[in-house]
Amino acid sequence: MPRVDGKVCIVTGAASGIGAATRALLRDEGATVIGFDRNAAGQSDELLWTVDVSDQEAVSSAVARVAERYGRIDVLVNNAGIPGPKKPSHEVTLEEFEHVFGVNVRGTWLCTKYVVPHMLEAGRGSIVNMSSMYGLVGNSLIPTYHATKGAIRLLTKADAATYATRGVRVNSVHPGSIDTGSKTSVRADTSEAAQEYNRRTLASIPLGHRGEPIDIAYGVLYLASDESRYMTGSELVIDGGYTAI
Ligand code: NAI
Repeated sequence: MPRVDGKVCIVTGAASGIGAATRALLRDEGATVIGFDRNAAGQSDELLWTVDVSDQEAVSSAVARVAERYGRIDVLVNNAGIPGPKKPSHEVTLEEFEHVFGVNVRGTWLCTKYVVPHMLEAGRGSIVNMSSMYGLVGNSLIPTYHATKGAIRLLTKADAATYATRGVRVNSVHPGSIDTGSKTSVRADTSEAAQEYNRRTLASIPLGHRGEPIDIAYGVLYLASDESRYMTGSELVIDGGYTAI
């Protein structure tokens, strides 16, 4: 039996990387998956919608459209995220700070805000928030990113505590360094500071290599499915052992 058979899922940031792998896996396991992405235009997939998760109006109307069209929302995967400015805190501008918090934190919260009423009405649901190993530990180069991922980790726990008695589970996933080919990632940055950071990160992974998007998608699949029915407020770390040492 498919692991998420018949479930209606929303995956944000679904046009590429971890979100695309998650969307494909959930679909292969029997779900109807609607992808939201800022850059969906040009991809001929009627289940991939152009939605900027930091835009309240866009999120509220897209979520309403999913509920109206499919009659339910069982799973929300808050995956959309950006690395933000690669500079120390004292050099980050207010605009840069607000931009990275706008996508990573406000986006996660906005999607949660509009999806939760549908889940509460149904008395069931699973929300999976994409944090990072850098929501657990610090490193140099992208401090505001760490701050957003730490905020997502604790929004997860607070929401888990709030909605648990009403059937809605909320968990976070903490990927390590994953090869997505993203042009906005620190890996694509050719500056000496970014290259040094990348070398240090790679050298600190006990399993000795970066992960692939599918490694994270399998974790999301578990949390989305009823297999994880006794799990809420948890943090699923998938990082090749990075945070173990
Ligand atoms: P990616 O850059 O390959 O994909 C992110 C997707 O999100 C893109 O399709 C982009 O268009 C979309 N997006 C960006 N801003 C958006 C917005 N405002 N509204 C809607 N969609 C938006 O990134 P990747 O690597 O797949 O990352 C996915 C998530 O996993 C992010 O939250 C990231 O922080 C997290 N993560 C990634 C790691 C990695 O090594 N790749 C490690 C730890 C966490």
